[in-house]
Amino acid sequence: MMGEFSRQVTPLNRTITEPLTTGGQIEYEDFPCTIDVTGPLLYTLFQERWQETQIGHVVEGSVLELEFTQPPKICILYDGYLTVVTEAWHLHLCLEEHLGGPLAKTPPELRQQRLIHRASLYRRLNERGEARSWGIQFWNGSGEKMMNLFLPNPFVGEDEDLLPEGKPQLEKLSLYQELRETYILGTRPIPFDQNPLKRPYLAVCRSSRCYPSRNWQPIIEALQEAIKQAELDVYVMTSGCLEVCKLGPVVFYSSDRTWYTRVTPDIAKQIVQDHVQQGHKIESHLYPLIQHSP
Ligand code: FES
Repeated sequence: MMGEFSRQVTPLNRTITEPLTTGGQIEYEDFPCTIDVTGPLLYTLFQERWQETQIGHVVEGSVLELEFTQPPKICILYDGYLTVVTEAWHLHLCLEEHLGGPLAKTPPELRQQRLIHRASLYRRLNERGEARSWGIQFWNGSGEKMMNLFLPNPFVGEDEDLLPEGKPQLEKLSLYQELRETYILGTRPIPFDQNPLKRPYLAVCRSSRCYPSRNWQPIIEALQEAIKQAELDVYVMTSGCLEVCKLGPVVFYSSDRTWYTRVTPDIAKQIVQDHVQQGHKIESHLYPLIQHSP
């Protein structure tokens, strides 16, 4: 049974400061990396504050910085991975154990290695102890740095224009401050009643490996129609591979991790009416099939 979603983050009260070899230091303030904390935080950044958020990956000798020019098209959690899709690129970040599809193929050690194990709000400080950049850093189960997010920098204007030292745009720190109050200090409530990454969805694989004709449109339409008729708050979408790769069309229901194969428009309707609405799975189309003893 999953715990109740709480709008209140219990602070970890863990600050770690590391010296930078080039002078100055970096200060990490950790926050809990459970899905009910990372979910709302990342949903806010990728779906609501995307204009103020940049994705990065920084290790010695390599830096990547990506910005959004439009709101991401997709921001969903599938089998432990958050996937964010833009017009031009996409990212995956492991926020819950990645079990490895319907057959749960990922070995336990790999699940732990991939899973986010530490998350911090950080500030980089110069030799005089003045903050000069702000962001969020994630680490995996091996203690390796995963991607980081860059938050608005008051010393940088449009087009990477470095502003004169005495003229920072301090209002740009409001996002960092809000996040700090919510996720580090716990003095501001999470701005959602439920974890927005746990909102249930139905996905139809659109790849040709499992469904050569790729004629998934009737399946999507049947699901959408049935969801509308039943007035349910369930998102319906197409997706990339759902790790079945045969017997398409393949449909996935996120709420209880269920995969269906050989879905017809009628079965799609039944999935909504029997399973989503009433909790009864359509056994004859499940993947893997449930083996009943004779
Ligand atoms: S290609 Fe459709 S499930 Fe893998």
